[in-house]
Amino acid sequence: MISDRKLSHILICRDLDVSYKKGTHLDDVELIHCALPELDLEDVDISTKLFGKKLSAPIIISSMTGGHPETKNINERLAKAANRLGIGICVGSQRAALEDPRLKDTFRIVREISKDLLVIANMGAAQLLSPKAREYAEAAISMIDADALAVHLNPLQELVQPGGDVRFKGIIHALSDLVKSLNKPLIVKEIGCGISREVAQEIVRIGASAIDVAGAGGTSWAAVEFYNSKQSGDSLKSEVAETFWNWGIPTAMSLCEVLSLKSNLTVISSGGIQNGLHVAKSIALGADLAGMARPLLIPAFSSEEAIVARLSRIIAELKTTLMLLGCRDLAQLKSVPLVIKGDLLNWVLQRGLEVRGIDRR
Ligand SMILES: Cc1cc2nc3c(=O)[nH]c(=O)nc-3n(C[C@H](O)[C@H](O)[C@H](O)COP(=O)(O)O)c2cc1C
Repeated sequence: MISDRKLSHILICRDLDVSYKKGTHLDDVELIHCALPELDLEDVDISTKLFGKKLSAPIIISSMTGGHPETKNINERLAKAANRLGIGICVGSQRAALEDPRLKDTFRIVREISKDLLVIANMGAAQLLSPKAREYAEAAISMIDADALAVHLNPLQELVQPGGDVRFKGIIHALSDLVKSLNKPLIVKEIGCGISREVAQEIVRIGASAIDVAGAGGTSWAAVEFYNSKQSGDSLKSEVAETFWNWGIPTAMSLCEVLSLKSNLTVISSGGIQNGLHVAKSIALGADLAGMARPLLIPAFSSEEAIVARLSRIIAELKTTLMLLGCRDLAQLKSVPLVIKGDLLNWVLQRGLEVRGIDRR
């Protein structure tokens, strides 16, 4: 059942409009053009490191798939493209393969591409409440020899999905236990509703290594479940899901929420990232990397070349932005002047967030 649900989610994401309609608000961040960049394009270095692996660009392919026999070649193409470009890749929830070992190869294919690839395992927060949580986490990591484990928080999806797991009590404690027992870094991520400052505070407190904000602005999981419930004839769930289509903290707001803590956690910007300028704006706000899911799913259905083409454009746009800001590397990008305006400015002021671009003197 979990395996079939995975395929149905992927097909809905490929074929239907499941996007959040109110935007990431990264357009409310303006970077200041530098007409005198004392640099040659070849001097621009966008490489970085995450969990001991070198990345040629601060980009990861966000968690999507594995878990159904028909997803193996999607993961294979994504991993080959990631390996060719020297970026990282996350697999989708490994729950289906933990319950049915015949599905393991749909995930393992990612690690088989290369030992040097940054590969991130994935499981859902709801699974942490099982007495076998630690066993699951270790099995997910060893299945693909992962460099880190991402745990996804998805309360909205569970609430509007037919048969969703609606028990979340005890998750913070379970996450904290997991961090203590795990010998790999733990990333806590949302799946499109963002992370608030208060939730980020808990994540910092339990000792996780990274937060992936996965804010609102891209794939709306309420939208995915709206179609899913409709197809399965559950009109109550589909009506509720439709109401929450545009629920969540937009990506730019979520970044400001999390970054205002000034913790030393790695921060990943994702949710509606479409181009290299979005990546640059995220890093200028203070994020370390950016992630993309659905924009890479469509090319992943066709070929490795199509994924490489999509990502190459993003990398070229990111380098262009650094050049136009006079930045040699990502450290310099993190300290460029910027202006925050519009809804993002209102949000930051009303929430009293201390973020780059807001002078509080
Ligand atoms: C087809 C598809 C499947 C996904 N499956 C998972 C998953 O298994 N685990 C997870 O943590 N996130 C999953 N996600 C969420 C993404 O990792 C990401 O957080 C979210 O889609 C927002 O990014 P986007 O706007 O770039 O799509 C999935 C996304 C898509 C499009």
